Amino acid sequence: PMISLRRLLDHAAEHGYGVPAFNVNNLEQIQAIMQAAHATDSPVILQASAGARQYAGEPFLRKMVEAAAETWPGLPIVLHQDHGASPAVCMQSIRSGFTSVMMDGSLMEDAKTPASYDYNVSVTRRVVEMAHAVEVSVEGELGCLGSLESGTAGEEEGVGAEGVLTREQMLTDPDQAADFVARTGVDALAIAIGTSHGAYKFSRKPSGDLLAMDRIKEIHARIPDTHLVMHGSSSVPQEWLAVIREHGGDIRETYGVPVEEIQEGIRHGVRKINIDTDIRLAMTGAMRRAMARRKEEFDPRRFLAEGLAAARQLCVDRFEAFGSAGMA
Ligand code: G3H
Ligand code: 13P
Ligand code: ZN
Repeated sequence: PMISLRRLLDHAAEHGYGVPAFNVNNLEQIQAIMQAAHATDSPVILQASAGARQYAGEPFLRKMVEAAAETWPGLPIVLHQDHGASPAVCMQSIRSGFTSVMMDGSLMEDAKTPASYDYNVSVTRRVVEMAHAVEVSVEGELGCLGSLESGTAGEEEGVGAEGVLTREQMLTDPDQAADFVARTGVDALAIAIGTSHGAYKFSRKPSGDLLAMDRIKEIHARIPDTHLVMHGSSSVPQEWLAVIREHGGDIRETYGVPVEEIQEGIRHGVRKINIDTDIRLAMTGAMRRAMARRKEEFDPRRFLAEGLAAARQLCVDRFEAFGSAGMA
């Protein structure tokens, strides 16, 4: 059944686990995630970005998720809108049947210009009032995602601040987080700790100077009852980078967020972990390999099925590593 994010994360907090929130755009990604959730008996968060709505269209996303709920009636599913740029966008998703929305007021409506704290409080508060009236959950974000190495939001189009950010902007302040949660009433809070969207997060395996795990602990100590969300949490598996490179792909040296660091976050209040890039890498690697190996094949289902299987295994690994396996 479809449930709200709040209900799922309350359960996760009670039992000390985290839930991966996977971005979805198409049939194969939704089936991969659902099959993995079924295999591990895990609750599911499917999230759709503005890019996903543009790619598939709102009716297709809605109907495919309905089909998932019908096919696996025993699994709790949260349908979450990722990075809503305005209250109007959040309203559209609520009307469409999403059980959770993110109002990302860390950026202005252009999703590029860093916003003031007062703007963020005001738009987020408005969304909470509307959403809670119809039992939809709200995730807010405080602090801008960005690399502490370069001061930029990374290379993914469409999501993230433009220009160079200060260290201050890129790390969520614990006292401000407490004030933000009190003033907005959000159900979950996305925090900035040095991660960014996309494949190019870190030029080396990150340690404390690049990935501010201590911040998570400070924020959790200050607001222990708030469910924390980590964005930009793909681990960027070196194995999949290798497969992509071996089969004609061109991806520079890059590192993601190690699974052990996410597990450390889960011990300190992180309940929702956003992952998009890892599924992209696994599907692309598997499809490139299948196309290279089976040159006579022209049925696209053969390639898509390989992509689906690779994504499914990745999801199984994350459900198990984050402790949501067995919790459905
Ligand atoms: O928010 C970040 C996700 O990776 C969504 O990316 O806008 O390309 O769908 P997208
Ligand atoms: P990745 O690009 O690390 O997968 O992050 C996805 C994300 O944060 C979606 O909101
Ligand atoms: Zn994000």
